[in-house]
Amino acid sequence: MFERYGVPVLQGLIADTPEEAEAAAAKIGGLTVVKAQVKTGGRGLAGGVKVAKTPADAKEAAQKILGLDIKGHIVKRVMIAEGASIAKEFYFSVLLDRSNRTFLSLCSVEGGMDIEQLAVERPEALAKIAVDAVRGIDKAKALEIAKAGGFDDELAEKVADVFVTLYGVFVKEDATLVEVNPLVLTTDGKILALDGKVSLDENADFRHTDRTDLERDDLDPLEAKAKSMDLNYVKLDGQVGIIGNGAGLVMSTLDVVAYAGEKHGGVRPANFLDIGGGASAEVMAAGLDVILGDPQVKSVFVNVFGGITACDAVANGIVGALETLGSSATKPLVVRLDGNNVNEGRRILAEYAHPLVTVVETMDEAADKAAELANK
Ligand SMILES: Nc1ncnc2c1ncn2[C@@H]1O[C@H](COP(=O)(O)OP(=O)(O)OP(=O)(O)O)[C@@H](O)[C@H]1O
Ligand SMILES: [Mg+2]
Repeated sequence: MFERYGVPVLQGLIADTPEEAEAAAAKIGGLTVVKAQVKTGGRGLAGGVKVAKTPADAKEAAQKILGLDIKGHIVKRVMIAEGASIAKEFYFSVLLDRSNRTFLSLCSVEGGMDIEQLAVERPEALAKIAVDAVRGIDKAKALEIAKAGGFDDELAEKVADVFVTLYGVFVKEDATLVEVNPLVLTTDGKILALDGKVSLDENADFRHTDRTDLERDDLDPLEAKAKSMDLNYVKLDGQVGIIGNGAGLVMSTLDVVAYAGEKHGGVRPANFLDIGGGASAEVMAAGLDVILGDPQVKSVFVNVFGGITACDAVANGIVGALETLGSSATKPLVVRLDGNNVNEGRRILAEYAHPLVTVVETMDEAADKAAELANK
């Protein structure tokens, strides 16, 4: 990504095995650096960044790094990067500052691996400059940031252009963070971004259809399935599967289930699943399918408040979902409906009289029933 925007970077190749790492190092030639590819920071300190003098060294380094656990992320892939001859290491980032409703640039002439420590021990060495979202970072702003970060005039002039380019990446990619640590000055006077971190705003994914190669590879399989069906699903550790419409209602449902669970062997919610406003049969079936796929789930609580989508439509959705799922629906379902057209909704479910479905009138009673069933 940096390369495409013209941020100065070194050549890097990806390897999944020590043999590939060796071949990559041979292709790049000279000194290389083998780096863990994990979506977390602090790789260097965890042994995930190693310098290799020869392709054989690179193979050995990759052997050590692949499989390493870095803050809960297992390394499955390494990058073989061209080695740089470093004179100085700097820090630069631009990010979304939600609390101040602006962008923020962080910058320090003292970059490198321990930036978090620097921020704690000598906060004055890390400049924090607000960036107006409309004006952005032009050359003048970049110079202001560099000087606040402690760069002398000559160096500031050199890094400012890179800051402007990095800000371009931040805006055009709809990022919430672009961080370079370290940005370096090489012994022959060049500025290079040696390590970058970018967080992308998924809300803008529709504008970036070219991102298929950036698919999250660390997603829980059920979360991936839910995502592919456009469901808002988060897996949790408990036993009571939850389906609701609207994030607020689902959050409250998690609370009442956790509370009710205290009386029933400490069972807890197994997930967060918001099927949104239009709780159609297809969406309900997709939601149930995801939840029933979680082996930890012992019972399911469907908690729906009929609004624009009335309760009869939701009840038909549940019936349709159970028909679709057939014999793969094996766990008890507690349904609480309220709101628009509630009586008709309850009538439909009563008439359908599915042996796994219990209709309960209030949210607290329903939570209690679902917790009790999960504890059986
Ligand atoms: N291509 C390179 N050539 C020479 N040295 C490098 C190169 N890449 C990294 N280094 C050195 O290794 C250090 C750590 O590398 P890097 O910044 O990629 O990992 P890290 O900072 O530990 O990881 P993270 O940013 O995930 O915390 C750098 O500060 C730099 O000194
Ligand atoms: Mg780094």
